[in-house]
Amino acid sequence: MDLVQRPRRLRRGEAVRRLCRETRLSGDSLIYPIFFDETLKGTRPIESLPGQLHYGLDRAAQAVEDCLKHGVRHGILFGLPAEKDPEGSSAYAEDGVVQQAIRAIKEAYPEFHVITDVCLCEYTSHGHCGVLKGQEVENDPTLELLAKTALSHVEAGADMVAPSDMMDGRIAAIRGALDAAGHQMAPIMAYSAKYASAFYGPFRSAAGSAPAFGDRRGYQMDPHNRREALKECQLDLEEGADILMVKPALSYLDIIRECRDRFNLPLCAYSVSGEYAMIKAAAAAGLVDERRIMCESALSVFRAGADLLITYYAKELSDAIREGEIG
Ligand code: PBG
Repeated sequence: MDLVQRPRRLRRGEAVRRLCRETRLSGDSLIYPIFFDETLKGTRPIESLPGQLHYGLDRAAQAVEDCLKHGVRHGILFGLPAEKDPEGSSAYAEDGVVQQAIRAIKEAYPEFHVITDVCLCEYTSHGHCGVLKGQEVENDPTLELLAKTALSHVEAGADMVAPSDMMDGRIAAIRGALDAAGHQMAPIMAYSAKYASAFYGPFRSAAGSAPAFGDRRGYQMDPHNRREALKECQLDLEEGADILMVKPALSYLDIIRECRDRFNLPLCAYSVSGEYAMIKAAAAAGLVDERRIMCESALSVFRAGADLLITYYAKELSDAIREGEIG
């Protein structure tokens, strides 16, 4: 056959395939979620997320060591407080669980990169991401509490804050509060296009943050919408976000691609708890090869255009990259 182009030439053998890969992965693009439980001593397996742990504050150094031994240098912190109230006041308490965890981590490993999730849902007795008026989450009064939370994280030593609440104007409010306190250089990673997703189920049982009534559709985005994601990213950029995020990842690859093409900020994707739990369950049932599915899923998110990835598989992915399975 007289074929001029034979694409298979570049697939013939591992060496040429590695040479011609279009998507390159690095352990430095991975962020690992770490859950601290204020009432816990030691560690406890998270039932809804097989292979994941709750850490007690006495195990802050261990949490970091568990990352570093896999080459993971970035973590995003979540807290399970001892006490909840309608205003989520333990979210912005100076000695709140995340604030204590930050201090303990920074004391043991100052170079570990600490990002914090900024939201109220783990801290409010009703489980919503802001303060309520009747059955409704009130936007503007919530902003002040989110700003206080972000500021308290930075004052405790966090390197970056990541608001996940989806209130309008939260990036401007947080930026303003950080700047006024002299933290002009603390970056904000905005959960910009965060959808009202069923994929958060395992996280909510892990973090004890399921809403006591209703759902989050009044503030998180409608999965039918694409242009609205661009609007949310645009607003966050204008309000001062340093990094944009799309969440969840796998069902929103089109949004990741479009945000990557449209905005010149680093783009993060969050491969959420349900995405992880589904792979775990399918693998436990003997239906799929866990490691290969994990690699292929992560690859698709980077190929779609994400620069950074928050994932419960960060350690295993970092190993797979180091061992040359992907990357
Ligand atoms: C807090 C928050 C949630 C997640 C990250 N930050 C839960 C939610 O919005 O209900 C979900 C993460 C995951 O599912 O892995 N608002």
